[in-house]
Amino acid sequence: MAEVVKKPIKITETILRDAHQSLIATRMSTEQMLPIVDKLDKVGYHSVECWGGATFDASLRFLKEDPWERLRKFRDGFKNTKLQMLFRGQNILGYRPYADDVVEYFVQKSVANGIDIIRIFDCLNDLRNLQTAVKASNKEKGHAQVALSYTLGDAYTLDYWVDMAKRVEDMGANSICIKDMAGLLVPYKATELVTALKAAVDIPIQLHTHYTSGVASMTYLKAVEAGVDVIDTAMSPFALGTSQPATEVMVETFKGTPYDTGFDQNLLAEIADYFRPIRDEALDSGLLNPKNLGVNIKTLLYQVPGGMLSNLTSQLKEQHAEDKFYDVLEEVPRVRKDLGEPPLVTPSSQIVGTQAVFNVIMGERYKMVTKETKDVLSGKYGATVKPFNPEVQKKCIGDTEPITCRPADLIPDELDTLRSEMAQWSEQEEDVLSYALFPQVATEFFKYREAQETKVDPKAADTENGAYPV
Ligand code: CO
Repeated sequence: MAEVVKKPIKITETILRDAHQSLIATRMSTEQMLPIVDKLDKVGYHSVECWGGATFDASLRFLKEDPWERLRKFRDGFKNTKLQMLFRGQNILGYRPYADDVVEYFVQKSVANGIDIIRIFDCLNDLRNLQTAVKASNKEKGHAQVALSYTLGDAYTLDYWVDMAKRVEDMGANSICIKDMAGLLVPYKATELVTALKAAVDIPIQLHTHYTSGVASMTYLKAVEAGVDVIDTAMSPFALGTSQPATEVMVETFKGTPYDTGFDQNLLAEIADYFRPIRDEALDSGLLNPKNLGVNIKTLLYQVPGGMLSNLTSQLKEQHAEDKFYDVLEEVPRVRKDLGEPPLVTPSSQIVGTQAVFNVIMGERYKMVTKETKDVLSGKYGATVKPFNPEVQKKCIGDTEPITCRPADLIPDELDTLRSEMAQWSEQEEDVLSYALFPQVATEFFKYREAQETKVDPKAADTENGAYPV
């Protein structure tokens, strides 16, 4: 009998990034994460995703934490595990395209502070927007993983994905990720897609999906059988719903098969025990909405990622137009078509979503147009897979000549200007990058940081008086 070839499935743990971004608005603090790092480090994960995406913004804006400090603490704690981040291509961790010098410097500092794997995607799947980040990552000896932003639509055929994967391999990526933000990849389509990509490229293929539509763990099963190399999972207290499939469940699923991870379920149980009270607290405070834990089949109907659904709800609430929710949901695919049918992922998801809200609330489509919609229609975010709706384009940008080159070619270097703008606040080289991404939020944070530093540490003072620090 032929010996079964073992191919243990590798796992990226998302609890320190996507899991809490998807379920509790990215509000897990460094203090809540650090005590469990030691155990996470012993599991044997391929990597731990712990930085990038919305964590940077949320740290500065809501948690009043320095994201760079968080990264350095992770690097100190994770002795054996690779650290992974999510990077929005030319948009870095922000919402607009940046000059190449900022992208390069951000990649350099991310690697210098401890990142091993950079997952880079573009919200339009325009590969020109990934070049600079991939090159910079290669230069810094980081692992450049390019993500295909997965979506559905006439243009997104198997050939489209295979062609994109080949070009990604040619541009120097070390691996490819199928990034399924909205849980649209159903199990048998995963078999087809993974099989086709494995046949087309030599670099490893990773699959990232969300449980939103309820099919994610079945999709992983089929993808693993089709040869995918790595899957993204989250420890059970922050799994399922708008987050990823549960780590323990996937580990158990593959036990005793050629894909066996070899992970210790007792260790995973101890880690889950640590996170469970944090989940309970989030449920009690309302931060974790039980609605986000169920199956939301509307994501399949409207192809809207979970995070975008909650954004739409809050935008409509602000406008006192919650009754327009379904009108907006139906408007989203129409706006997406007008804008060249891009994938819906930050920032295209916000741009399409906000424009859909305006179109519905104003009672006339494109009567009010955001700057970002105009920028998309002017080519400033890059090329879309389909052409723009010419009438909409005309109504929004008039006779302005759209650009067709790589957008960053038209953006002059920004670092020097940024440095001079924020010089008074700079305490570390990385501060200019925080400022570049979120000028106002970072400035507020710098002010807060300065105020904290000039104050006596309240914890130290309490301890001196014999009181237990709060
Ligand atoms: Co995700």
